[in-house]
Amino acid sequence: MILLVGNWKMAPEKVEHAEKLAKDILTIAKKYKKNIQFVVCPSFGHLSIVAKHTKATLLLGAQGVASVVTPANTGLVSAPQLKGLGVQYTIVGHSESRARGDTNEMVVEQATRLIEKKIIPIVCIGEKTRDAQGWYLSEIKDQLHGLLTTISKTNFKNIVIAYEPIWAIGANAEREATPHECREMVIYIRKLISDVHGEKFATSVVIIYGGSVNEQNAKYFISDGTANGLLVGRVSLEPKRYELLAKSLSV
Ligand code: PGA
Repeated sequence: MILLVGNWKMAPEKVEHAEKLAKDILTIAKKYKKNIQFVVCPSFGHLSIVAKHTKATLLLGAQGVASVVTPANTGLVSAPQLKGLGVQYTIVGHSESRARGDTNEMVVEQATRLIEKKIIPIVCIGEKTRDAQGWYLSEIKDQLHGLLTTISKTNFKNIVIAYEPIWAIGANAEREATPHECREMVIYIRKLISDVHGEKFATSVVIIYGGSVNEQNAKYFISDGTANGLLVGRVSLEPKRYELLAKSLSV
């Protein structure tokens, strides 16, 4: 089963457009549910309207959660609140939230809050730039370190890792990553997990890829890149292209 996660970020602006988009994605999800588990992650403001259209074929995700438990925290959304809305997955550690100040420690705390509520954290990791010496690998190692040392093996089973090289994300991406680069990183991430939890366990962890995924390159990140799924930003907002993407994964 391929995990296909749509990250809507702050789009669309209007609630009725979010509802229409959710309906369109549900129609696509019904067509391709045999091979693909669809998840949509709208912004907090649109969670409850989108929740009306999510069920087993299309699961509901959020884009963040508070790392703290104290209810007196203006502007934050707690894991129990997400749970109450029917959220089953939540993106944490996205490079855009890290750029706003989320640290590796906070990401571990956020993942912990989600696990406590049986919500699956999609933990994003990825390097800012690449260098010929391979220093970027230590950035990935640091991002995984806290998760591997703080979260128990039993709980780690319920974490999805999203490898998203920052240089490949969004409209200002330097370039697309190649499936080969994706494959190398999937192997490297599994190796880091294996060093702590053993090889057998490491092969069972769900690792998805994100960063400028589109209807042309998607299938290669799965086949050659060996990712177990995809985290899609811009294209997940365009039902026609998203359907082509889903179709390409199903042939
Ligand atoms: P993109 O975004 O597909 O628009 O590059 C991916 C992401 O930021 O998760």
